[in-house]
Amino acid sequence: MKKVALVTGASSGIGKETARLLVQKGYTVYGAARRLEKMGELKEAGVKLIAMDVTDDASMVNGVNEILKNEERIDILVNNAGYGSYGALEDVPISEAKYQFEVNIFGLARLTQLVLPFMRNQHSGKIINVSSIGGSIGEPHGSWYHATKFAVEGLSDSLRMELKEFGIDVVIIKPGAIITEWGTIARQNLLKVSGNTDYKTLANKHAKMFENADKHGSQPIVVAKTIVKAAISRHPKTRYATGGGAKIILFLRKILSDKMFDKMVLSVMR
Ligand SMILES: NC(=O)c1ccc[n+]([C@@H]2O[C@H](COP(=O)([O-])OP(=O)(O)OC[C@H]3O[C@@H](n4cnc5c(N)ncnc54)[C@H](OP(=O)(O)O)[C@@H]3O)[C@@H](O)[C@H]2O)c1
Repeated sequence: MKKVALVTGASSGIGKETARLLVQKGYTVYGAARRLEKMGELKEAGVKLIAMDVTDDASMVNGVNEILKNEERIDILVNNAGYGSYGALEDVPISEAKYQFEVNIFGLARLTQLVLPFMRNQHSGKIINVSSIGGSIGEPHGSWYHATKFAVEGLSDSLRMELKEFGIDVVIIKPGAIITEWGTIARQNLLKVSGNTDYKTLANKHAKMFENADKHGSQPIVVAKTIVKAAISRHPKTRYATGGGAKIILFLRKILSDKMFDKMVLSVMR
């Protein structure tokens, strides 16, 4: 029987490559996002499209119901949809911070709630949550984004233990700098919110750094391959660092003191 996967954020970047690769590996794949018009290629590749906004409960309920009606099972949920709303904490309106939490954490949690009864019934399944190296480190102007990714890690670590008795794995994916639409969105948000405030000097340097990451980061296929490896593995690791300097950055975070790490991050921006 073909395994069934749902990948969110499949209209671009990491999610798009993951959906494509899962189809190639023989999965029945549902790719979800808001912009279906960007998913023609995926449809041709055999991915089934679902219109979904992860801040809209009805669209998540309908999407999961459609999969279950067609396939009567769901084996893999890749919670990948997300974005970076950058800006100094003081400058970011609380409404925007809440929206970022809606997308990056509450959407992920709600979809997980919706698939779990079926995975528990099957006594198998995998929830693969796309966090970031940002789920282990901080950076200026990233308070809200990093808060959402630290939340993804705390939620996933807790859920993993909760689901062990039901035979369901929870895996955390921690990409480094990846060349996708993410960098442009983060940079634009940063400049819009803090490009002209008291934080502007460092904010403009940070924006330049995003530009460089866009040039020197890894391609999203690198992360997609890691996600697929976790999906296929009978005994997946709890977390995978992948692409764009992720491993070295996490290693440095481990061995350096907080203050030394802060100094290193700030020196990269200056
Ligand atoms: N790129 C990086 O350097 C990097 C590094 C570490 C972690 N990540 C994480 O990797 C994940 C994928 O990002 P990416 O780099 O592939 O970025 P991307 O190219 O911007 O793709 C983001 C995807 O999320 C979807 N999305 C955003 N808001 C949504 C919403 N409200 N409802 C449904 N879907 C929504 C977008 O689809 P629609 O707009 O069509 O809905 C899009 O398909 C994110 O969680 C991101 O935080 C990225």
